Amino acid sequence: MFSGFPPRNSLLVAALSLVLTRLSCGSQPVPDVPPIAAYFGTKTRYEEVNPHLLRDVLSVNRSVLKPPPNERCTPVHITAVIRHGSRFPTVQNIRRIQRLSQLVRTGRDTETTDTTDTTESWLTDIRSRWENWYTEDMDGQLVMKGREDLRNLARRLSALFPALLSEENTRRIRLRSSSKHRCVSSVEAFQEGLQWGRSEVQYSHQVDDELMRFFERCRGYVEGVEKNRTALLEVERFKHGEEMEAVRKRIADRLGLHHQSLTPDLVEAAFFLCSYELSIKSLHSPWCFLFDEDAAKVLQYQSDLKQYWKRSHGHMISGLSSCPLFHHVFRTLDKAGRPRRSTEAPPEPASILVGHAETLLPLLSLLGLFKDQTPPTASNYHTQHGRSFRSSFIVPYAANLIFVLYDCQRGPRLQPLLNEAPVRFPGLDEDAPLYRDVRATYRHLLDGCDFHKECEGRPGRGPNTEL
Ligand SMILES: *[C@@H]1O[C@H](CO)[C@@H](O)[C@H](O)[C@H]1NC(C)=O
Ligand SMILES: *[C@@H]1O[C@H](CO)[C@@H](O)[C@H](O)[C@H]1NC(C)=O
Repeated sequence: MFSGFPPRNSLLVAALSLVLTRLSCGSQPVPDVPPIAAYFGTKTRYEEVNPHLLRDVLSVNRSVLKPPPNERCTPVHITAVIRHGSRFPTVQNIRRIQRLSQLVRTGRDTETTDTTDTTESWLTDIRSRWENWYTEDMDGQLVMKGREDLRNLARRLSALFPALLSEENTRRIRLRSSSKHRCVSSVEAFQEGLQWGRSEVQYSHQVDDELMRFFERCRGYVEGVEKNRTALLEVERFKHGEEMEAVRKRIADRLGLHHQSLTPDLVEAAFFLCSYELSIKSLHSPWCFLFDEDAAKVLQYQSDLKQYWKRSHGHMISGLSSCPLFHHVFRTLDKAGRPRRSTEAPPEPASILVGHAETLLPLLSLLGLFKDQTPPTASNYHTQHGRSFRSSFIVPYAANLIFVLYDCQRGPRLQPLLNEAPVRFPGLDEDAPLYRDVRATYRHLLDGCDFHKECEGRPGRGPNTEL
């Protein structure tokens, strides 16, 4: 029916058909998300954690702010620790993708009979239509979608805290970032979101690796965990354990490959390919069809094991390595919540700290969040379905931990939000407890948690390692 339209109306047609698509899809306007999209661990899109953003990326849920309803409270400050947005694979994964794409083209098991009419179309797509477009120079850089992640987050936070992230306050907001390219691009994009609608954005961030990349400066952590193969034993065991073996064989069969040629790392590369095509290009890649939900859950568990043992509760030193960031956050909150005369300058409205999943996970662990009773191991996959430690949910791209400080009638209160939803400090059964109660909960860390002592570590540990 549109065929008679002259070309100059093609934009209108496109717009109209977009509207029609939206209308006709009703509550499911995003038709083509792979069913395994919420299992990608740290490579999960933020939208999988907050699906309402797929409908409206600027929608804000004001009821996440939960100071006590019977007390008058006003937000006076936020400190936000934010992970960079969607990014390209790093070199290691780009090389795996290269090996995988060569293997599926050349390494076919000739004994498997697959005549054209039994070959599924996704398999044909993988073998002959899909082009490996990843190159090593992309190495972990922020992609366009990643910039949007941060811009839109800033715009939503401005809507949620209009008095704090206001135009007049722009110069009083402190922004710090890790030196990594993807983080610097992210903190820039965040400022573009804050200054939305202005013709020229004024950037004013500082690079601070002591604060945002504490993990690589903590010797006890680097030597005790990162470079220590025994520290990650559970991950290695699971990688070669029965659940992963079953997945590996099934995927090799589906690709028509010899079982031996498809290593666990290449299985993971195929899984991540599905995640990258989705998070970078919003595509439902043919690679996604290799994995059913059960396989995706096994791969997710492998990622969770890695994050748990490498960055979180698995080793106390991981959390303790974030002591500088912990103290920085509480010093900032102390200052912002201090009583002041009306003649004094108002407190800093916001502190924005942009880093990595490796920045957020240790801090969340130090605060005691997502600590299940039984640690996940290589041998308890089947009893871990209900675990709270899920990296897909905790640290997707653009993950954020926000400390909202309120001025209330009974004194300052503090509410933590993770990925724009309420979470609670362990042991405190309110969404926004009194700030002094939060301080009391973390007294042992506020009085201790000394980076040099913990990280340069005398072997006989001091009293501050008990969380
Ligand atoms: C808004 O947030 C509240 C509190 O977390 C939650 O109960 C509610 O489901 C959210 N609403 C939407 C539409 O997401
Ligand atoms: C390596 O990790 C194991 C297990 O956590 C630990 O017992 C050992 O002391 C660590 N080695 C070093 C050099 O820190």
